[in-house]
Amino acid sequence: VPQNQPYRTCYHFQPQQNWMNDPNGPMYYKGVYHLLYQYNPDGATFGEKMVWAHSVSYDLINWIHLNHHALQPSHHYDIHGCFSGSTTILHQQEQPFILYTGFDEKKHQVQNLAMPKNPQDPFLRKWIKHPQNPIITPPIGLVEEENFRDPTTAWKGSDGKWRVIVGARDGDIGKAILYHSDDFVNWEFNPNNNPFCEIDGIGMCECPDFFPVSIDGTKHGVHDYDYDYDSSSSVIRHVLKISYQNKQQEYYLIGKYDCDGEKEKFVPENKIRGTSLDLKLDHGEFYASKSFFDHAKRRRVIWGWVKELDTEQDDIHKGWAGLQAIPRQVWVDENGKWLIQWPIEELERLRENQVSIVGHKLVAGSTLQVSGITASQADVEVVFELPELESAEWLDSKEVCSDKEYASKSGIIGPFGLLALASKDLTEQTAIFFRIYRTPNGFACLMCTDLTRSSLRQDLLKTTYATIFGIDPNLKTISLRTLIDRSIIESFGEKGRVCITNRVYPLLATEKDAHLFLFNNGKHNVCISLLNAWSMKQADFLQQ
Ligand code: FRU
Repeated sequence: VPQNQPYRTCYHFQPQQNWMNDPNGPMYYKGVYHLLYQYNPDGATFGEKMVWAHSVSYDLINWIHLNHHALQPSHHYDIHGCFSGSTTILHQQEQPFILYTGFDEKKHQVQNLAMPKNPQDPFLRKWIKHPQNPIITPPIGLVEEENFRDPTTAWKGSDGKWRVIVGARDGDIGKAILYHSDDFVNWEFNPNNNPFCEIDGIGMCECPDFFPVSIDGTKHGVHDYDYDYDSSSSVIRHVLKISYQNKQQEYYLIGKYDCDGEKEKFVPENKIRGTSLDLKLDHGEFYASKSFFDHAKRRRVIWGWVKELDTEQDDIHKGWAGLQAIPRQVWVDENGKWLIQWPIEELERLRENQVSIVGHKLVAGSTLQVSGITASQADVEVVFELPELESAEWLDSKEVCSDKEYASKSGIIGPFGLLALASKDLTEQTAIFFRIYRTPNGFACLMCTDLTRSSLRQDLLKTTYATIFGIDPNLKTISLRTLIDRSIIESFGEKGRVCITNRVYPLLATEKDAHLFLFNNGKHNVCISLLNAWSMKQADFLQQ
C-alpha cells in the first residue's frame, strides 16, 4: 500500500491511479477471468477520452493490470469516448466479441463491435475494431441520439438469432431497445418488440443487464445462451437490471421472458412501484453493475462500481477515484422473489488470524470490542439470536431514518450490530445494524448503514442508507457479513438478501487505529450466537 494513502484498498479491485467507473465485459475465457472497465488515462476525474482498461486474473481476487488498453477512442464513431458495453463469447466459447458504445464525432451514441487480434492469446491484449462500425445507430424518434448506450451481453433465441439490448433515454423515460442479428454484425430493429421495456421517471436506462436464472432452489447460474436450457422451462426466469440515472441506484425485475411468441416479451413478476419497496441490488453506493456466467464454476458473478463520496478535489489529491465491489455470486432465493448476493468464495483465501465469539450476551446499551484482527481490513460474519419478536415496537415509517443519528437512538429490539472503522473512543464509527418492528402484516427488519459519525471530516456527505424488509414471525436469528477495506464497507444482511455498500473516510480510525465493536442500543439483550472475524491479506495487483 502506498504511503499516506489510508483510503486505498487492500483487497478491492482498483487500478494504480486515475479515475475508474463501470465494470465492462467481465468474462471467463480459456482459464482466465477478464475485467475491463471505464477508465480515464489522463486523471482522477471523469475524462474526455474514456478508454476500456483491462485486467486479468485466475481467481477474481488477485489481478494483473495490463498496460495495453483494450479500447481507446480512435475513429469518428468513438472519438469522444469508448463507453460501456459487454462481451459475448460465440462459437462454443471460442470467439469473444466486445459490443461497446462509441461517443461519436457528432456526440451521438452508437454501438460498435471489436474482436481480439489474436484469440489464442489467453490475455486477449489487443482488440481490433470492426470495419463496419458503427453497427447500430440510434432509432430515430424513439430515443435521444446522445443517450443511447451500454449494450448487454448478447444471447441466442430458439430461432437461432442473436439478441442484444441497448439502454436509452427519451425525456424522463428510460428505454431498453432490443435488436436481432443472424451474424452479430448486422442488427435489426423490430418496432413490434420495442421498446422491450420502458420505465417513466428514471432518466436514462443505464447499463441494462438481462440474464436467465433458475428458480429451482440451487445457487447454480444459467448460461446466457446455452442450448441446454429452454427459456420457456418452468424453472427459468429472467432478471432485467437497470441503473436508474435519476436515482443513481440499481433496480431489478424478475419475470418470464418469451422469445418464441408473436411478440417477444419480458413480463415482470414483481411490479415497479417507484417506491422504496422496489428491488434494489444494493441499498448503498453500487452502480452500473454487470454480471457474467462463469462456466468454470457454473455460477453467475456480478461486478459493480462503487464511486467516491469525498470531493473531486480529494480525488485529484489522492490521484485516483472509484472502486469495484467484491465480485458477488448471484442467484434467486428459493421463493423466486428476490436475488441473493454473496462475495465469491475465493475471497475467503485472504482470511487470516481468525477470532471467534460464541454465545455472548450483548446486554442492552452495551458495546463489545472485537480484538485480535486488523480492523481496517477485515471480513466479519455474525449471527445474532433475536429476543421474542412480540415485544417489538410498531413501525413508524416516517420516523425511520429521518433522524440523522439513528444508530444511537434506543429502540426495543435493536438497533444492534457492528461499529466498523471506529476510533478507540468511538468518536468515529460507522454503524451497520438491524432493528425489528411490528407491522400490520407481521414483522419487519430495518437494515441500515449509518455514516453520520463515520468521519470527523466536515466536507463529506455522511448519509444514512437503509431498507426495511418483511421477516418470518418465527425468525430466531439474523445474520450479517461485513467486508471492511480501509475506505469501503460492504454489508450483506440475512445471508445476502440485503446488501449495503458504502465509502467512508475516517480521520482517526485508519490502519492500526481502526477498531471493530459490536453494539446493542435496544432495550432487550441480544445474544451473539456466533461471530467469526478475520484480518484480510493484501491481494496482488501486478502491472504487466
Ligand atoms: C454509467 C455510465 C454509462 C456510460 C459510462 C461512461 O456510469 O454513465 O451509461 O456508458 O458511464 O463512462
